[in-house]
Amino acid sequence: MRVLENLDRAVIAIDAQGVIQLFNPAAELNTGYSERQVLGRRYDDICIFDNAFTYLIQAALENGRSISTQEHIMLRRPIGKPLPVTISVAPMFVEQGKIDGAVLIIRDMSPVVKLEEAVRRADRMTMLGTMSAGLAHEIRNPLGGIKGSAQLMAMELPEDSPLNEYIEVMIREVDRVDGIIEELMNLSRPRTAENSAVNLSKVLNDIVLLQKEAHCDKNIHFILNLDPSIPELIGDERLLTQLFLNLIKNAAEAIEDTGAVTISTRITSEYQTRSEADHPASLIHIEVKDNGTGIPPETMKRLFTPFFTTRKSGNGLGLVMCQKIITEHDGFIKVDSDPAGGTSFSVYLPLRR
Ligand SMILES: Nc1ncnc2c1ncn2[C@@H]1O[C@H](COP(=O)(O)OP(=O)(O)OP(=O)(O)O)[C@@H](O)[C@H]1O
Ligand SMILES: [Mg+2]
Repeated sequence: MRVLENLDRAVIAIDAQGVIQLFNPAAELNTGYSERQVLGRRYDDICIFDNAFTYLIQAALENGRSISTQEHIMLRRPIGKPLPVTISVAPMFVEQGKIDGAVLIIRDMSPVVKLEEAVRRADRMTMLGTMSAGLAHEIRNPLGGIKGSAQLMAMELPEDSPLNEYIEVMIREVDRVDGIIEELMNLSRPRTAENSAVNLSKVLNDIVLLQKEAHCDKNIHFILNLDPSIPELIGDERLLTQLFLNLIKNAAEAIEDTGAVTISTRITSEYQTRSEADHPASLIHIEVKDNGTGIPPETMKRLFTPFFTTRKSGNGLGLVMCQKIITEHDGFIKVDSDPAGGTSFSVYLPLRR
């Protein structure tokens, strides 16, 4: 019994009638049900057991087969998000092959799923790098040709020609494509990070000064809540500036007319990460919060995908860049958004590296 209580896998036992007889603490943790709520109830009374589970349990109870799922099944829970799990179901026998019930072992796969997602993101970045280097080379030369020709044409036309307007558009759009390529190349260029002591408060203050100017056509209130006790951070100042500029710019862009962008820093006790020497390091939490449009759930999934943008003049590379810089600084990023208004991006960076 002690073994089951301390096991990190959820173990649930049911009798031949499908009534739950055992529900260990890991099962409580994973399903969100307490032992008291489920003991003595039939398994199909409880909403976490949907079709996939029912099929496996029936196979065990009726045919005496042991089955495990290879793929992740989503465990629905009374509160919280569905949990990706794998399950094994094994029948229990009494004498002469008579089936007396079944044991379910459920394994929480969410750490694996998170890791897989991180690997996929990293893979996408590598592919993006190779592609963009080739692309940049092939596109930049003809682009230069188009821009040069447009400029020559402009010189040939009389000043009052209505065609001048088209030429301006041509040149502007060529510059835009060139800008995208430049950004892509910045993303993929292997860099040796230049580590120095960075004063985060100064970086954030400077960015806000500039962003106030850039968005002076709107009524945005920039609020800085900076913890003065945060020591200097070891990192690449240029990259960190770019990171927070992207986030603050996004926040300001999410505000249509009037609103507030709040930037806070604090040392957090919420998370601990392990540095190379295996000492736990504290994390600095930098939050960029706005009360703008918010992000609908279907957009949320695609935020960090290269070229995903909902903005007329966006390139969809800002957050990809942010992710890369944060990874280079051994940190991580979280997003919370209320589609009814307001988004918060939280960056966590380790204090000692
Ligand atoms: N604070 C925010 N509030 C609402 N939506 C946001 C916010 N930040 C990002 N987004 C959404 O995420 C998308 C991707 O952001 P990202 O910064 O990667 O690209 P972008 O801002 O569109 O273009 P750029 O390459 O110029 O930064 C945005 O188009 C927007 O839809
Ligand atoms: Mg952006």
